[in-house]
Amino acid sequence: MASRYHEVYARWKADPDGFWAEAAEAIDWSRRWDKVFDGDQGVYGRWFTGAECNTCWNAVDRHVEGGRADQLALIYDSPITGAQAKYTYAELKAEVEALAAVLREQGVDKGDRVIIYMPMVPQAVFAMLACARLGAVHSVVFGGFAAKELATRIDDSTPKLIISASCGIEPGRIVPYKPLLDGAIALSRHKPERCVILQREQFSCDLIEGRDVDYAEAVDAAKTAGTAVPCVPVAATDPLYILYTSGTTGQPKGVVRDNGGHMVALKWSMENEYGVKPGEVFWAASDVGWVVGHSYIVYAPLLHGCTTVLFEGKPVGTPDAGTFWRVISEHGVVALFTAPTAFRAIKGQDIEGVFVKKYDLSKFRTLFLAGERADPETIKWAEQKLERPVIDHWWQTETGYPISQNPVGLGQLPVKYGSPAVAMPGYDVQVLDDAGHPVARGTLGNVVIKLPLPPGCFPTLWQAEERFRQAYLEEFPGYYKTADAGYIDDDGYLFIMARTDDIINVAGHRLSTGGMEEVLAEHPDVAECAVIGIADAMKGQIPCGFVVLNAGIERDHGEIEKEIVALVRERIGPVAAFKMVVTIKRLPKTRSGKILRGTMQKIADHEEWKMPATIDDPAILDEITTALRQRSAAV
Ligand code: COA
Ligand code: AMP
Repeated sequence: MASRYHEVYARWKADPDGFWAEAAEAIDWSRRWDKVFDGDQGVYGRWFTGAECNTCWNAVDRHVEGGRADQLALIYDSPITGAQAKYTYAELKAEVEALAAVLREQGVDKGDRVIIYMPMVPQAVFAMLACARLGAVHSVVFGGFAAKELATRIDDSTPKLIISASCGIEPGRIVPYKPLLDGAIALSRHKPERCVILQREQFSCDLIEGRDVDYAEAVDAAKTAGTAVPCVPVAATDPLYILYTSGTTGQPKGVVRDNGGHMVALKWSMENEYGVKPGEVFWAASDVGWVVGHSYIVYAPLLHGCTTVLFEGKPVGTPDAGTFWRVISEHGVVALFTAPTAFRAIKGQDIEGVFVKKYDLSKFRTLFLAGERADPETIKWAEQKLERPVIDHWWQTETGYPISQNPVGLGQLPVKYGSPAVAMPGYDVQVLDDAGHPVARGTLGNVVIKLPLPPGCFPTLWQAEERFRQAYLEEFPGYYKTADAGYIDDDGYLFIMARTDDIINVAGHRLSTGGMEEVLAEHPDVAECAVIGIADAMKGQIPCGFVVLNAGIERDHGEIEKEIVALVRERIGPVAAFKMVVTIKRLPKTRSGKILRGTMQKIADHEEWKMPATIDDPAILDEITTALRQRSAAV
């Protein structure tokens, strides 16, 4: 089939308002918009101003009323616990409505914030949708973050209530959530009034009298009472959620997502970009704590009337490298979306693809990869073993859905390995030099998007409009700065090569090295430090810390390094995957005092590097090379 991509992209470019107005017809509105796009509102304009809608209605109730009541909406598959559960759209509605009744009884109203700190269980999805039903704003916090990170998010979003669980489960260990939750509330200035706690059978926790509510008891009572909770109409521009993502400091950025534009964009993406039809089974093997989980485990598949899969497990080890293929065959999955790191993990354990052959993948059509650069070797391996298209696509927490992709829904374009293909309708992607001038095709530069951003992208940061302007809009006036470096080739294909800031991508998880440096600097023996991301065959990158100790420290350096590793785990959480510290005598700096992190990274990755002309003392780089060599010999 010839691709319609070029025609559709040109149609969007010629008439963006007309294009999005047409896409918006696929959504139910309780009040239609005054303007499709109003450039006078918000920082760079707002979409569907004047309109009213409800995201839960469109994701759940509409399908119950429209003939999908008995179709599966959600399949929970948990190889880590051995549990499975299935919910039809009617059952999903009953769960969501009952939880919404509980939240309303606890005083949650339109506009109130609710933090959801949950493992990958169906109740996490119910919680998100229950908030959406009430017009409350959820903020999901990934379970691998520590108490301090949770406390930062509590203080920033000031939730009225937190929904959590007794534990998460990682391979070989139970992660009790309650001590993390209580620790976070003790640390935070803002104190939520209530916590609703789901007791899991693997591990139960004590509840605090007067503050904590038992999830199951409260939901059962609401179901018995049969309390109806209608979907509360909200402005299309009202926030649906806040999702914190790493910024360039330890203070994460609260990415805000609205209701109206978000629904329009996600619904459009399912058919046109992912090539999936209502009623089909779609699986994003991510976590609800990340944007991929928000968009493609929960909202997009449900808005589209699909069946979504919620997977509590890992690509390998739960129990083996065939788990993904087992889930696909057992549930009839047509499209899988995951991070390249998951495939590198599978490939590492099943290079011959023995497990792939064991399962019936006849319904499976496409594999989508995102979250980090997909290395061509991994893509080729997946293509060979699966004998299906493997689609690399590029996006960010900020955009909420793909910026560039090979749009299988519109007809697949030729694949270029290493490229997440072409800009999607809505996105005018350009590459500028540091002075803000367009560069020639094929030349590396700053990847930017011409404003306005399309519907679904973030309109601002939560209560931080100035930070939003400064971080994203100021450097290249008229454009959104993606903070990715890359180039566009003669055919319009994008190549995303690296971040231009301090963000690193560890196993598909976005982390700030600046945030880690803040933690290292807290250790009493550390005088100076730098954290860089170094190459890792499975996780893509892993953090590596360099520390200079205070003068006169005589303690064993190995002990101090262990303490530093433990400190990062305690402050940021296990997800930081911070396990490597190298003690050095001095940090390499320019004469003006800037730490030469780029050169350090090249040395650590055994890449070719040039002596920076501005270096203060070239001998320091030899010291670093020696320290790294000694460390590798010791490990
Ligand atoms: N709760 C508590 N701890 C968690 C956690 C959670 N939700 N998620 C991860 N962790 C812990 C892990 O147990 C591990 O702890 P350890 O240091 O004690 O071993 C640590 O955080 C690092 O986790 P991770 O980097 O994920 O490594 P891993 O070895 O556990 O798994 C992969 C590696 C590749 C299998 C896994 O990272 C993966 O599936 N990644 C895909 C990521 C993804 O879906 N990204 C979203 C974009 S699509
Ligand atoms: P996150 O906000 O966690 O989704 O991370 C976004 C960042 O991940 C982007 O800015 C990129 O640096 C990187 N990224 C995501 N998808 C891709 C991709 N397909 N190719 C290259 N980098 C990617």
